[in-house]
Amino acid sequence: MQSIYYIMGVSGAGKTTFGKALAQRLQLPFFDGDDFHPEANIVKMAAGQALNDTDRQDWLLALQELAKTQADGAIIACSALKQTYRDLLEKEISIPVHWVYLKGDFDTILKRMQKREDHFMPTDLLQSQFDTLEEPTDAFVLNIEQSIPFNVDRLVGLLQTQKAEIGIIGMGVMGRNLARNIARNSFSVSLYNRRVEEEEEEVAFQLTQQFEELNTAAAFEHIAPFIASLERPRKVLMMVKAGKVVDQVIAKVSPHLDRGDILIDGGNSHFKDTERRIDSLKEMGIHFIGMGVSGGEEGALNGPALMPGGEEETYALISPILQKMAAKNSNGDHCCAYLGKGGSGHYIKMIHNGIEYAEMQLLAECYSILKSHFEYDNDQIAHVFSDWNQGELNSYLLEITATIFTKKEDGKYLIDQILDRASNKGTGAWTSINGIELGVPFNIIASALYARYTSSFKEKRVQLAQNYLSNSSPKTDLSIVQLKEAYAIARRLNHLQGFEHLAAASKQYDWQLDLAKIAQVWTGGCIIRSELMLDLSSILKQTTNLWEHPDWKTPFNASQKSLQQICISAFQQSIPIPTFTACFNYFNAMTQANSSANLIQAQRDFFGAHGYQRIDDRTPQLHHTNWTEL
Ligand code: 6PG
Repeated sequence: MQSIYYIMGVSGAGKTTFGKALAQRLQLPFFDGDDFHPEANIVKMAAGQALNDTDRQDWLLALQELAKTQADGAIIACSALKQTYRDLLEKEISIPVHWVYLKGDFDTILKRMQKREDHFMPTDLLQSQFDTLEEPTDAFVLNIEQSIPFNVDRLVGLLQTQKAEIGIIGMGVMGRNLARNIARNSFSVSLYNRRVEEEEEEVAFQLTQQFEELNTAAAFEHIAPFIASLERPRKVLMMVKAGKVVDQVIAKVSPHLDRGDILIDGGNSHFKDTERRIDSLKEMGIHFIGMGVSGGEEGALNGPALMPGGEEETYALISPILQKMAAKNSNGDHCCAYLGKGGSGHYIKMIHNGIEYAEMQLLAECYSILKSHFEYDNDQIAHVFSDWNQGELNSYLLEITATIFTKKEDGKYLIDQILDRASNKGTGAWTSINGIELGVPFNIIASALYARYTSSFKEKRVQLAQNYLSNSSPKTDLSIVQLKEAYAIARRLNHLQGFEHLAAASKQYDWQLDLAKIAQVWTGGCIIRSELMLDLSSILKQTTNLWEHPDWKTPFNASQKSLQQICISAFQQSIPIPTFTACFNYFNAMTQANSSANLIQAQRDFFGAHGYQRIDDRTPQLHHTNWTEL
């Protein structure tokens, strides 16, 4: 900002400290007016005598001269107590001049001055300063009782001539990359990051310096000026850690919002928390959108998949920004759409993550088989995955997996240096718990989750591996083509379960979800984007019953033998493949006309008189038998 900023106020108002902080923020040079007093003035003040207009004349002229030479702008702290002084200081300056008045009452400033040992002005001169002071009418007024960082933020907000179209809270990797993405798409954005002394200071501001696209963004550490910097209705995207932090941020922000303003939560929040937040903010007239964001840090910057849920009218107000920042798929469609009411956006992100878990685990099991059965080295494994990725199996996860096997550090493959203990942040568990609540088969995702849990018992596994004999039989013949086919249909089953899960949720929560639209949002930007997802986005337009669609059915009939062979072979060599077997079992169970569940019903009736339906009675009538009666 090319301007001269005069920081004025009585002695002791904190002009120097504030001026320096502002100079740092605005990247302008700072000058302390006190340094320009002629020696005679300093001597006079130190002797306890107040300066008069004549004394001040040369000093003011020196400062005016200084301001005139600062063509790129500067911050000048100077008490400038009278209007005539200020008129002189503004004269003949070719760039805009702003006055910032640090306002405080006598008692507060007196207390401050009494604490200062190094200042030449005795405190009894303070009254004369107040007597001389003519408060400016055209200055930005800041209350000296606020902290310096707050007042810097406040002034930056006040200086903004145009309000920003959206504000982002939380400058972690995702928040900052989304901010850059939004700015690159020509939307004006305000940035907020909390201030934690000596830990997180001026984080948002540093980003405006670091990234060109954020150079014009206003940066804040205080909520009130941040919110005041936004155009109405205010749109605020929260990119903070899911859980309690979201509630804390809402509590801080909502008092500054007005009816009609919009809060968006872009974290991985639980959908039930989102529904609770929607309800409580509704009472204040604030609209809340729960939005799943997928694609990691790279996606956030270059185009993520966005899964917003909430009121459709609210979505309409933010959709121009969201559509522009979202990824586009290979057909040029945006990977962002209004997906449904309430917490459905976050719910859909949760299912996305569930599918992600199983996709990752299937690849991990392929790795086990390639390594143990085929005895392939990392280069060969990379080659297999990269080859698969050329065709219909193409997916983001397969692509990165192929790359992982090529990565070396100090001449060694990095994959071999990584501890085999998988972590998780909980969304896979949420998917599984919800599957139980809805009563839908979700064993594929759950198997992937349990595989991560099992992996976490590393020490125990190492110990047990020494204590138990391995029980491997001779290898049967297997081909890479069989593994590829098995992997292909296992993925289909994983996706099928995911979409059936969504269909059940739509019914249960009355969301009227459009499965084809969800698949389309997942065709670009997100972690589970793939060729298969692209197919699904058109197949699901024709039917939501995937089992019956010919394009879907054919690969099963052609490849189920391969899935069986892979499972048999892995069993023979004691290679754990929980997700492949979950897929195999699910497929067999779902395609078997007669199961053994008649026995379960009989057992339940035997010990609990729970009743069973009979095949020779088509009514829902329950029958009971006294099983011990002869
Ligand atoms: C995404 C991811 C992401 C998720 C990580 C970590 O879509 O960008 O799903 O949101 O946080 O994948 O999840 P876990 O730590 O549970 O593996």
